[in-house]
Amino acid sequence: MKRQLLIVDDEEDFLILLKKVISKECICDIALATSGSQALEMIKSLQPDVVLTDIKMPDIDGLELLKKISAFDSTITTVIMTGYGTIEIAVQALKNGAYDFHQKPFDNEKIIGSIHRALERTHLVRENKQLLRRLGKPPLKTNFIGQSKPIVHTVELLSRLATTCATVLIRGESGTGKEVAARAIHNMSNRSGKKMVTINCPALPEHILESELFGYVKGAFTGAETDKGGLFLEADGSTLLLDEIADIPVSVQTKLLRVLQEKEIQPLGQTKTIKVDVRVLASTNQNLEEKMARGEFREDLFYRLNVMPVTLPTLAEIAEDIPLLVHHFLQEFTLEYEREELEFTPEAMQFLMHKRWKGNVRQLRNTINRATLLCRDQFITPEDLMASVTFDHTQPEPVADCAFLSGNYKDAKEKTIQRFTTAYITQALQKNSGNVSSAAKQSGIDRQVFQRLMRRYSIISKDFRN
Ligand SMILES: Nc1ncnc2c1ncn2[C@@H]1O[C@H](COP(=O)(O)OP(=O)(O)OP(=O)(O)O)[C@@H](O)[C@H]1O
Ligand SMILES: [Mg+2]
Repeated sequence: MKRQLLIVDDEEDFLILLKKVISKECICDIALATSGSQALEMIKSLQPDVVLTDIKMPDIDGLELLKKISAFDSTITTVIMTGYGTIEIAVQALKNGAYDFHQKPFDNEKIIGSIHRALERTHLVRENKQLLRRLGKPPLKTNFIGQSKPIVHTVELLSRLATTCATVLIRGESGTGKEVAARAIHNMSNRSGKKMVTINCPALPEHILESELFGYVKGAFTGAETDKGGLFLEADGSTLLLDEIADIPVSVQTKLLRVLQEKEIQPLGQTKTIKVDVRVLASTNQNLEEKMARGEFREDLFYRLNVMPVTLPTLAEIAEDIPLLVHHFLQEFTLEYEREELEFTPEAMQFLMHKRWKGNVRQLRNTINRATLLCRDQFITPEDLMASVTFDHTQPEPVADCAFLSGNYKDAKEKTIQRFTTAYITQALQKNSGNVSSAAKQSGIDRQVFQRLMRRYSIISKDFRN
């Protein structure tokens, strides 16, 4: 099939001249459009390989056209032409994914060489896509492990969101994979050629967070010895993840809202604003609705961020994926520590499947990491795992799972009693909101005995107060 080139410029004479020059050297069909909107219409029907477009046009300019083309079909290669004095815009176009740019009046040889390469690029990209399709492997670049309904549904949602530029608020308990989700959106988007920029919001004090995000100019404050671009600028043409957004101070929230609305930043100490093209993703494990009610989170910012919410499932909700996850993490760590011979006993697997993972996938992964390091022989046992899990009193363990009923009788009995007592005392304290006297009374135990048990198993009543 003959390749298709579409040239877009509002000067008709120039279009005709260019067509003449290119058709002498390139074997391709050439279509012409005199405006951005006409070009868009033609792109839908022609599905060209390459679009060569001017930047300055009256209706839709070249930069806008570039964005629309990559949203419509990321395999189309766009080459930009620009008049004198617009080099900055051309650089911007390259950042936004244009393949090449030429300054008018240009060298015919150079533009022909560029068109040849652009046609070749589209050919390769499309061939690769077809190949992947034939292999039955969708070109999804996510690191999510799991086949349960909630995971499949999440990955589908993320891949749909990846084709848009919408701000996404990623919610979910700690350790459920919010950062993995953000990375998946970025990697599946047409911004994936550039690095995603991440900032962990609570890690920085207020004034530093602000200058890290928006940058500053020399002399903006004591110690600002040079200009600094800031993360929004670094993420121009890419994705910025605001990790743990719930904790940012209200003053920074106000500035952030402005950036999201105006799509421009104002570095500290500078009056001029700078246009940026950044796709913002935000994550939180906190209850933003409660924070809003307490006046700690701006409502308008919440609604800006919450255009597309994604809530990740807890590990309990994807419990059927635990064996897959376990297998995946075991492979990861046995390779890292060169302990490829290691495997789980069936009891250990049972333990992993029945434990309550308050820290979700991260806690499961950490447990397997430690067990792989600590385990002395070829088999990882429930004991190895128990020694690797950080104990969490606020979540009672299910006593019914008997994975630890093995090994030395005395040890097994002690462990059983420990687990039973911890679970019993914990639930009694939970029911009584941490009030020791009423918990003891309800349990039919003397208050002092109850307290002794609490001390023995390091249970603190404060953990259960509302
Ligand atoms: N479905 C999954 N498949 C594979 N790995 C996962 C999955 N979910 C989470 N992980 C892994 O669990 C760990 C925690 O994930 P991540 O950091 O994305 O969680 P988070 O929700 O951002 O947690 P936090 O709220 O504590 O920051 C990472 O090592 C990640 O690779
Ligand atoms: Mg995180």
